[in-house]
Amino acid sequence: MTTPKKLFIKTYGCQMNVYDSERMAEALGGQGYVETKTAEDADMILLNTCHIREKAAEKVYSELGRLKPLKADNPNLKIGVAGCVAQAEGAEIMRRQPAVDLVVGPQSYHRLPAMEERVRAGQTALDTDFPEEDKFDHLKSRPKARRAPAAFLTVQEGCDKFCAFCVVPYTRGAEVSRPADKLLTEARDLVERGVREVTLLGQNVNAYHGGMTLADLIRALAKIDGLERIRYTTSHPNDMDDDLIATHGEVEKLMPYLHLPVQSGSDHILKRMNRSHTAESYLRLIERIRSVRPDILMSGDFIVGFPEETDADFEATMQLVREVRYGYAYSFKYSSRPGTPAAERADVPAEVADARLQQLQALITQHQREIQNSMVGRDLSVLIEKQGREAGQMVGKSEYLHAVHVENCSASVGDIVPVRITEGKTNSLAAQMR
Ligand code: 5AD
Ligand code: SF4
Repeated sequence: MTTPKKLFIKTYGCQMNVYDSERMAEALGGQGYVETKTAEDADMILLNTCHIREKAAEKVYSELGRLKPLKADNPNLKIGVAGCVAQAEGAEIMRRQPAVDLVVGPQSYHRLPAMEERVRAGQTALDTDFPEEDKFDHLKSRPKARRAPAAFLTVQEGCDKFCAFCVVPYTRGAEVSRPADKLLTEARDLVERGVREVTLLGQNVNAYHGGMTLADLIRALAKIDGLERIRYTTSHPNDMDDDLIATHGEVEKLMPYLHLPVQSGSDHILKRMNRSHTAESYLRLIERIRSVRPDILMSGDFIVGFPEETDADFEATMQLVREVRYGYAYSFKYSSRPGTPAAERADVPAEVADARLQQLQALITQHQREIQNSMVGRDLSVLIEKQGREAGQMVGKSEYLHAVHVENCSASVGDIVPVRITEGKTNSLAAQMR
């Protein structure tokens, strides 16, 4: 019997990368790899990198520098770089760090098995093309047992929006939607494997146009028996059309949670970001969404310290946050990304940006806590995902995506149970079965 080779994947960045890492593990599973949790005992290390913020490439090079000595202990060790840094840097990675055997961009993961064979034969393998073929064909959604009962389904990739700060249109390429019929077949497949909730995933998910609109895809998915919950992420305000808004009032299985990044509350900055919406149009949009689904929990992304951001611009962002009251929000200090239009502009001083970030995060956290605490006493339903740490406790997600610990819970993984929320904790809620 041959012992399986061990694969260690380190994932950086977004949910798209988490999803991609699973697909890569599957693809290499066919080559005889099983996953390991430590780099030290691996025969293949893959860094699934993210290029969106911070000095991403530099961090990857220093991580590679740390990993290189492992090759002395295990001559069979192969090191690969995947993800958006791989896409952006390409062959430069192998030039700067010769310990790297393989560089693969996000559009080429289905070619990993052949690439693995090349590196096993002592060669290097590089693939950062944007292929014409259906790149999704070989990357079917196959949730592992541990992932069920909630799964991701990638419905589109790439972005044509070209926000002035963002590398995604360059690293992930143009927007591509997957055909709706394939997605519906995959969703049925997932349900047969025990999945009860799908999150439709895409960099610009509401720009979806795979033979039907996202609204119609959601309606078609909602007809699948056994599929109980539907979510989608990440959306752009400009693609939130009336029909998609209507689904939030009409489709019961569509969960009351929406991640809708605005980035800034200042019209001047929004314009300089090339966002093509205003703070006012965004607020009106949320009003329309809340008019069909008043309890919807909003989530967002913010960038502070974008070039030219003044105190008044930042105050406009704070004001927008006060008006929306996000249940979750992610805020980032602007980081200049080479090759993007904003990289040409002068940065706001770091200490100014740091202070703004702290102020914004404090406000967001306050709202998050208040909203979380307002759940106490409410009757919610929880999709049970796993056992909790304490005896009799099960853990799952509410409709609003809050993590919920259900005490004295007789339900099993995959059940959707009615609960009453008893307590708000920092990052989760406690509940009793009803
Ligand atoms: N600097 C800081 N934050 C960024 N994001 C994207 N690019 C940058 C950048 N250059 C943030 C945006 C986006 C989220 C995924 O990452 O808020 O919505
Ligand atoms: Fe980047 Fe803007 Fe596209 Fe989002 S919409 S992926 S921030 S370019």
